[in-house]
Amino acid sequence: MTLGKPIRKAVIPAAGLGTRFLPATKAMPKEMLPVVDQPAIQYVVEEAVNAGLTDLLMITGRNKRALEDHFDRAPALERTLELKGDLSRLEAIQHASNLGPLHYVRQGDPKGLGHAVLCARQHVGDEPFAVLLGDDLIDDRDELLSTMIEVQARTGGSVVALIEVDPSQISAYGCADISAVEGEDYFRVNRLVEKPAVADAPSNLAVIGRYVLHPEIFDVLEETEPGRGGEIQLTDALQTLAVSDCEGGGVYGVVFRGRRYDTGDKLSYLKAVISIASERVEFGEELKSWLKEFVN
Ligand code: G1P
Repeated sequence: MTLGKPIRKAVIPAAGLGTRFLPATKAMPKEMLPVVDQPAIQYVVEEAVNAGLTDLLMITGRNKRALEDHFDRAPALERTLELKGDLSRLEAIQHASNLGPLHYVRQGDPKGLGHAVLCARQHVGDEPFAVLLGDDLIDDRDELLSTMIEVQARTGGSVVALIEVDPSQISAYGCADISAVEGEDYFRVNRLVEKPAVADAPSNLAVIGRYVLHPEIFDVLEETEPGRGGEIQLTDALQTLAVSDCEGGGVYGVVFRGRRYDTGDKLSYLKAVISIASERVEFGEELKSWLKEFVN
């Protein structure tokens, strides 16, 4: 096995239409939906930066300009807050623009997650990179991405993040069949299936939205035929790599047991907002006691 190159680049697909949140997302990217007081996408960008990734590429599309504006400087607003002496808000808005530099590329056609990742090819080049999907938020007190980066460096392959789900839920995810690697706490992925029917699922291990990929994925994606939903699926390309002995072949899994908040549909999003809000020092205790009263 070869040692991987150090990882610097993160790809953040954000081109989806957000149909699950309509009408809220008719004129606004779903990535901008607020989770307490910052847009969901900012948590993901912060996670990448905290894991030491310094070169961030967002895959966007039509109607996504708010994303670029959010991570850019806002001179007039900064000046107004400065004049008012509102330093904490000033700091908060400057923080978002200091996370970058962010780069953007547009995915002209919505041809699926695999195609979105392929749009990053020219920017990423020939080095391993991370992919972070905006629907999954990982609590910053729990380690995931840095562990995956280490596993990629040790194995030289690609790495997926897995969680155990109730078997009835597996058809909402990519599903992995894994086996143990002696002496290691990561696993070898034998097979990946995108959103299998419950009866056909090889396990209850679901792929969540963090990947660390070998650049060989790009060649494979170029050849990957549309799969589930007529879209080019990242899971299908990873299945090809899982069974390949070539340079860059091999897929490994890290099982995550920490706190994850799903913001992918309306109900999960509401739960994520309440969970994250109830951890905030400013109002968490008050919110929790109100929630108890409200439920009673
Ligand atoms: C995508 C992937 C799926 C994965 C999921 C994690 O699906 O295709 O394999 O389990 O992200 O969030 P999506 O949720 O975009 O339909």
